Amino acid sequence: MAQRSSPVHSDDVQDPRSLDIRGLSMGFGDKSVLRDIDLAVRPGEFVALVGPSGAGKSTLLRLINGSHRPTGGAVSVLGTDPARCSRSQLRALRARVGFVFQQFGLVGRLSALENVLMGALGSLRMPRYGAGSYPRPLRERALQNLERVGLAEERFQRCDTLSGGQQQRVAIARTLMQDAELVLADEPVASLDPNASVSVLETLRKLSAEDGFTVICSLHQVDLALRVSDRVVAVRDGGLILDAATNETSEEQIRAVYGDTGEN
Ligand SMILES: Nc1ncnc2c1ncn2[C@@H]1O[C@H](COP(=O)(O)OP(=O)(O)O)[C@@H](O)[C@H]1O
Ligand SMILES: [Mg+2]
Repeated sequence: MAQRSSPVHSDDVQDPRSLDIRGLSMGFGDKSVLRDIDLAVRPGEFVALVGPSGAGKSTLLRLINGSHRPTGGAVSVLGTDPARCSRSQLRALRARVGFVFQQFGLVGRLSALENVLMGALGSLRMPRYGAGSYPRPLRERALQNLERVGLAEERFQRCDTLSGGQQQRVAIARTLMQDAELVLADEPVASLDPNASVSVLETLRKLSAEDGFTVICSLHQVDLALRVSDRVVAVRDGGLILDAATNETSEEQIRAVYGDTGEN
């Protein structure tokens, strides 16, 4: 039996939690992908979302940022239901929610600094061409954010010449430009080697602790999940099958629950 958080609050009060999901289901055509998911996440928590490939992790993250509409149940993200948002409300919500992708999502021919600056585009009216076209305070912040991920020296380097781990750290610095309250990371280390994976996740963890933003990070590797998270949530075949404090669970327990043999 999965351990569940049980949200108790009145529906007419804005939920201060980062995330409150109740009875969430999602299907594509006849295919049911997520079933009856309940999940409440407190501000500042670092939640690792684990589960085998095809379990529904990416679908769940896309429901949280409003890229999909659920077929049943409700999602409240930072007090807002993305399925009920107008386009402009959704844009406003997404400005508060950062997204980190497995494939980084950077513009390879642009420098690290320019890519980080692009994280601020949501707050600017005009398109920008080159780092010099951004206001100076933003350029200073972008550089500080690159420093925070350990890449100040690489600021003028084209992103397609950086290592995978460095590229993912640029992507994280770009998200910092948003001052996001919630960061969703979809297998951010799936294409990185083990050392780079640890470095990227520990960077994310450190920033989350310093700035107080919430993280929901899907991961394939249970050992990494346990290393960086406050809480581990496991999905399998579209159902939430484990929701436990990281310090109260073990690698064996999680693997047993979701049937991972550890041979990814
Ligand atoms: N747009 C879509 N249309 C149809 N099926 C989809 C779509 N997106 C995901 N699925 C299916 O939903 C299931 C869960 O996928 P996904 O959320 O990507 O899993 P995970 O991220 O855990 O690997 C898979 O069976 C996948 O094929
Ligand atoms: Mg996925």
